[in-house]
Order: sequence, then C-alpha cells, then structure tokens
Amino acid sequence: MTRVLVVDDEPMIGALVSGALANRHFETTVVNDIKSAEKVLEQANTDVLVCDINLDSESGMVLIDHERVRNDRVAVVVMSGSADLPVAMDVIHRGAFDFVAKPFSSEELLRAVNDAKNRRNRELAEQERRLELEFLVRERTEELSTAFGAVEEAYDRTIEALGAALDLRDTETEQHCRNVAEMSLRIASAYGINDPLTLRDLRWGALLHDIGKIGIPDAILRKPGPLTAEERKIVNTHPVLGARLIGEIDFLSGAITIVRHHHERYDGTGYPDGLTGEEIPLLARIFAVTDAVDVLIGGRVYQSALTLQEVREEVARSAGTHFDPTVVGCFLSLELGTQGFVA
Ligand SMILES: [Fe+2]
Ligand SMILES: [Fe+2]
Repeated sequence: MTRVLVVDDEPMIGALVSGALANRHFETTVVNDIKSAEKVLEQANTDVLVCDINLDSESGMVLIDHERVRNDRVAVVVMSGSADLPVAMDVIHRGAFDFVAKPFSSEELLRAVNDAKNRRNRELAEQERRLELEFLVRERTEELSTAFGAVEEAYDRTIEALGAALDLRDTETEQHCRNVAEMSLRIASAYGINDPLTLRDLRWGALLHDIGKIGIPDAILRKPGPLTAEERKIVNTHPVLGARLIGEIDFLSGAITIVRHHHERYDGTGYPDGLTGEEIPLLARIFAVTDAVDVLIGGRVYQSALTLQEVREEVARSAGTHFDPTVVGCFLSLELGTQGFVA
C-alpha cells in the first residue's frame, strides 16, 4: 500500500484528492496546514506528498525541504492554483517530482501521483543497488589491500632473510645488511624522500646490495689478506652479477639501481659504469654512504674500527670525491651511534 499525505488548506480539495486516490491502493491522510503535515511526516512513513503550494499565509514549498521528505526521498506532487510555467519550474527545481495546476481532473491527479510513486521506487531501487555496489567495492578493496599487505610483508621477510644469509657468507660485520637498510632509510628521510614505494626499493636494494657476491668464489671472497689485482677484478663484477640476478624479478626492479651502482663514486672513479655526480641514481648515492659507514664502525678483517667521530670526519672528507655532498650533509645532520643512527 502506498501512503499518501495530502496537504491543502481547503478541506474540500483535500477530500476530493483523497477520494480520487481511494481504492487505488493508496492509503491517504489529509491535513490542512504545514504543522499537521510535519507531524504526520515525523510519525509515519510517507511515500508520496501531494501538497498545495499556497497554504493560507504559508508556502507549501517548505515541505519540499523537510528533513524527512529529503531523507526518505518522498515523492512530492505540487498542486497550484496558478498554472504559471515559472512556478512549475521552480517547484520541480526544488525537488518536486510533478506539478498539477488547479483545476485538475481525477485522471490527471492519478497519473501524476502514480508517475511520482513509480519514479520514487525506481530511484530507491537504484540507490539501494548503488549502496550495495559501494559496499562490495569497499569490501573487495579491503580484502585486496590485506592480501597485498600480507604478500608485501612476506616479500620483505624473505629479502631480509636473504640479506642475513649473504652477511653470514661475506662480511665480518654482523647484521651489515640490516644496518645499512635502516641507516639508508634514515638518510633518505633526512633528504626528504617519503614516497613509500621509493623507500621500499631503497630498503630492498640495501638488503640485497651484495647479492652478486654469490657468484664470487669463496677462495677470493673469504681471503684474509689483500687481494691481487686479478682477484679484485673478479670481486668487482659483483654489482653487475647482482643486477643480472634480480633483473628478472619484477618486484625488485626498483632495487636494481642500488645493486648495480653501489660502488660508483661521485667523482666518477667507481665501478661498474664510472658514473659521475647525479648520473649515479640517488638511492645508490644514499646507500654508498651507509655501506661505508657500517664498515667503518664495525671494522673489517684488516682494518680496525674507528671512533664515531672519526667515522663522521672520514665521511665528511669524502664528500665530493666518494660521496654526494648533499647526502653527506644529511648523514652529518643525524646523530651516529654504534648501532647506526641514534633515534
Ligand atoms: Fe658491494
Ligand atoms: Fe656492503
């Protein structure tokens, strides 16, 4: 049953409208003023509002803007003694579904109320469908982002484990890969890099920077004394080897620049490509500082550890030759501890 609220200050018209709608599956309530209409709107669900536009001194227009009418998308049909087009345009513009000019026939009124009711039902169905769709999209997005987060975390743990495995074989510095990854992120943030994907590439590149050493024989890699020129040449292939190793892995594509270029030097005397200054990718320039710092703090086999102040001085001295001076500036702006930067 469609519930219709009829508002007209002339009781006779209210009765006529109600009569025209009776026995047509409409349940009508007739009131004569806005206050009573508001009371009905508050208390009962209304599907269609048939409203006179000039109610004594008040305008029926206020009912179009009534909260319940707006929220419940009540279909409004306006009746008016004036057949003026501008008045009709105005009420439609305000949100009414239809307009009937007095005097009108029962058929005209019925058609207007039926059309309004049908249009409202369509709009409500559409709204429900849209809400369902929005809910579904939100739900799927959440599921996807949870799944994506889990995959990302699994990648991260795998790469960190791989970095730790590389440390075991190659370096005397404990947790070297994790240290350089953490220090690189700190310098990057001091540099002003905050894009999460760039930071992720930096972390993964730092963890895997020496992955190419997998291809270097133990006899050379673990040799206690200084290397011969020939051995050094072999060791120096590790950046290219590493870049080739991870080159086929899509999610590591952003980390390749660090793996390939972490031994470039700002003055162009590094390897493998002898890049100069800003030709060297920024992430590799940032990483190069932390790689050296972690080794300087920890000390290698044939090189004793330096004090933190000496490390800072050493890095500062290499600004413009080994390291990017801007990156060095960022490094010096952070407080260095034995386990990387102090928070
Ligand atoms: Fe390396
Ligand atoms: Fe390293």
